[in-house]
This record gives sequence, structure tokens and C-alpha cells, in this order.
Amino acid sequence: MSINTIILPKTTKFIHEGYVTCKSPKYVKNMVYKIAKFFRREFQYDFTQFHLDEKAMDYKAYLFTDYKAYHSISGETGIEVIGACCFRYGKRYADVSERWFLQWIWLHPYFRNTGRLKEIWSKFINDFGNNFLPEPPLSHAMQGFLSKYGTDEQRYCLECPKTATAPKAATSRARQ
Ligand SMILES: CC(C)(COP(=O)(O)OP(=O)(O)OC[C@H]1O[C@@H](n2cnc3c(N)ncnc32)[C@H](O)[C@@H]1OP(=O)(O)O)[C@@H](O)C(=O)NCCC(=O)NCCS
Repeated sequence: MSINTIILPKTTKFIHEGYVTCKSPKYVKNMVYKIAKFFRREFQYDFTQFHLDEKAMDYKAYLFTDYKAYHSISGETGIEVIGACCFRYGKRYADVSERWFLQWIWLHPYFRNTGRLKEIWSKFINDFGNNFLPEPPLSHAMQGFLSKYGTDEQRYCLECPKTATAPKAATSRARQ
């Protein structure tokens, strides 16, 4: 994926600081969707793991926004969304009990390794429990992150065979 083709979502509208749910306004869900598509493109998955018309009550998505408001040529100011992630609740694996899973997360390459995930991780643990698990396959970056900042249970998942490294080539994930 060429970095030049990544056009981040921007808005001049208000974005609520909380989680995005199926009840959130469509323009907010659309921003999550756009980021989910970048995640799919980078890891060459078969399908986008977020949809605007999902009715499920079991997801909570989060938008990472740029601190600085952007200024458009026409003089408008607003917020740039630089990444997103989506949590889903359930029993997603036969051998793992029901809980929240961090299904996917993606930050624009310019904003990676700038501490954005580190600064929000304790809030995620607070909101989703210290047993929430990032859903495999895990990227090298996520493995590195968990080995340093994950809870015991999250670090344990690094040793499970199912958490094999996210492949570079196209792959399939089981459809939910
Ligand atoms: C994974 C991701 C969300 C991490 O978010 P981030 O905001 O860049 O991470 P932070 O800057 O808060 O944390 C950095 C820590 O993560 C780890 N890390 C980040 N990138 C890494 C890499 N490429 N290799 C190894 N460890 C890495 C390090 O432990 C680092 O800790 P340090 O700063 O103390 O050295 C982000 O890199 C990303 O969007 N990557 C592409 C998508 C992706 O991999 N999603 C996960 C799918 S399972």
C-alpha cells in the first residue's frame, strides 16, 4: 500500500470522545469504516472487518484523532482521524472464554511509534478488562507492544500457536 494513497478521514463536525457504536452517527461510523479498509489493504485480508450497517450491539470502536485541527484550503478547521480500532465481545474461539477482543487496530504510518497506543492502553484495560485479547494473527508491532505493555494474560497469548504472525501475503480470516 503506497503511503501516498492514504487519504485520512477529516471532519469539521463534532466527534464525541467516547466509543463508536452501532448507534453513533453515520459520518462517525464511516470514518471507522475508512480506517478498517486501510487495515484490510495493508494486511491484504479478504474483507473489511467493519460495516456501516452492522446492527450488532457487541462492538465498540475507537477513533484516534490528530491533536492539531487541520485547516482546509477554504479556511475550515476540523479534526483528522489518524487511526481506529474495534473491540468485539463474545466467545470468538472454542478454547478462549467469552470476553472482549481487540479485533483490529490501525494507525497511519506517520503516527506509529509515537506513543498513541501506549497512552490509551490503560483506558482500554479499564474499559474492557485486563483479559481482553488482541485478535490473532498479530502483527510484529502488536507482538512487540504486548511483550512490553500487555497484561499477563495478553502476554500469554503471544505463546499460543494461534497467535502466529500476521502474514504479509493475502490471507483469510474466519468470517464472524
Ligand atoms: C500496532 C500499532 C497499533 C501500535 O501502535 P503505536 O501507537 O505505534 O504504538 P506505541 O507508539 O504506543 O507503542 C510503541 C511500542 O510498541 C512496540 N512496537 C511498535 N512498533 C513495533 C514494531 N514494528 N516492532 C516491534 N515492536 C513495536 C514497542 O514495544 C514500542 O515500545 P517502546 O516505545 O517502549 O519501544 C501500530 O503500530 C499500527 O497501527 N501498526 C499497523 C497495524 C497493526 O499492526 N495492527 C495490529 C494488528 S494485530
